[in-house]
Amino acid sequence: MSSLPPQAKADICVVQNLADRAAAILQANDRGGYTVPSEKLYPYQWLWDAGFIALGWRVLDEARAWQELRAIMKGQWADGMVPHIVFHQTHESYMPGPEIWQVTHTPPTSGITQPPVLGTVLLQLYQLAQDKALAKQAVQELFPAILRFNQWFHRARDPQQTGLVATLHPWETGMDNSPAWDAPLARVKTDKLRPYVRKDTGLIDPTQRPHKDDYDRYMSLVFQFIDQGYDPARMYAEAQFKVADLATNAVLLRADRDLLKLAEEVVGDKAAADWLRPVIAQGRAALSHLWDSEAGHFFSRDLLTGEAIAIPTVASFMPLFAEAATSGQAEMLARQMALWQQRVPYAVPSLDPRHPSFEPKRYWRGAVWVNTNWMVASGLRDYGYFRLADEIKARTLALLRNGQFAEYYDPVTGAPLGSGNFSWTAALALHWQLFA
Ligand code: GLC
Repeated sequence: MSSLPPQAKADICVVQNLADRAAAILQANDRGGYTVPSEKLYPYQWLWDAGFIALGWRVLDEARAWQELRAIMKGQWADGMVPHIVFHQTHESYMPGPEIWQVTHTPPTSGITQPPVLGTVLLQLYQLAQDKALAKQAVQELFPAILRFNQWFHRARDPQQTGLVATLHPWETGMDNSPAWDAPLARVKTDKLRPYVRKDTGLIDPTQRPHKDDYDRYMSLVFQFIDQGYDPARMYAEAQFKVADLATNAVLLRADRDLLKLAEEVVGDKAAADWLRPVIAQGRAALSHLWDSEAGHFFSRDLLTGEAIAIPTVASFMPLFAEAATSGQAEMLARQMALWQQRVPYAVPSLDPRHPSFEPKRYWRGAVWVNTNWMVASGLRDYGYFRLADEIKARTLALLRNGQFAEYYDPVTGAPLGSGNFSWTAALALHWQLFA
């Protein structure tokens, strides 16, 4: 393993006020009942952000944590889908905003989803709650809606019941411009693209954001979904981008398992438990088929070609979070993780640093993200790899040493990138007890 730069080691001692700073970021990004990921770049409520952010609020104010989940569930559609953005108020600084998505829902929302972390968040909030009476009440209230969301995923995105759900837009994976999506995205046609004006590159250095060609395709897909009337059957059948994303499937499987625990132990919902058990067994079996024994890695699959997407990204470790790996597979993944850590001082880069597409500063093409660090470290811990998990935690803390709660970080230099004062970075630092 390459060692941490000496300065990072020294700075680890100076973390006392970091927890206060993290709390101040959540408070500053609170818009009264929901939290924006960052002030200007992302001025609405995002789905998986809301889950991570609720975990952070839990440390400060349990009632506020439950409120974060209530707010995101206000965006839930009648069929159960929870959209990836809820536009509680309109704002000028973000594109595509509600006027582009044209969704008729109150409050307005986007028309696609994101990795379904909410079931897992619900269980963790419950387990860690000091106020168990409040927690029980909140779980009773939120469980049916979150279960309906997971059921929507299995129904709408896996209509043939293969055990793997499809993701129809790179934004749905939460890892927008991951090199894993380059080939599937390149096939998306841009002939029906309508005019649009990016706002992100006016706020953040364009070298840290996706390229224009990618954006044209992201927007083409959005315009296509609008033309399909957001009908899930048409979106699935006519998809130009359709992948079985490892992260989404792992997060869904983990959330299904966590909802099962709640169904059995807290809510006493036998019908939900009976529905979840076979779905979990099938999901675990299907995820295990994404293992490539030669490469010693899990890979996402392009569902339009049927081919594995043989690019090792941070998502390749996510089956650990779902406990879907065998002990042999976990051992191979732990070895891969150690190799990655030899290459760069800060863990975990979003792409294998040995890969030719590795770009340490560009968003999901190499930069480190705290949410994936937390999920991968939790997975390693569940499999007994305590040293590796602790190493990820220590290296995450080293990134935050200057009090910079950035959106992402350069794994080579540790420099903060993207937006500053980023909510999930602050929230997970609190939840993960980085400063304990
Ligand atoms: C970016 C990230 C996505 C996140 C969103 C809001 O689009 O790729 O994962 O949810 O920002 O923070």
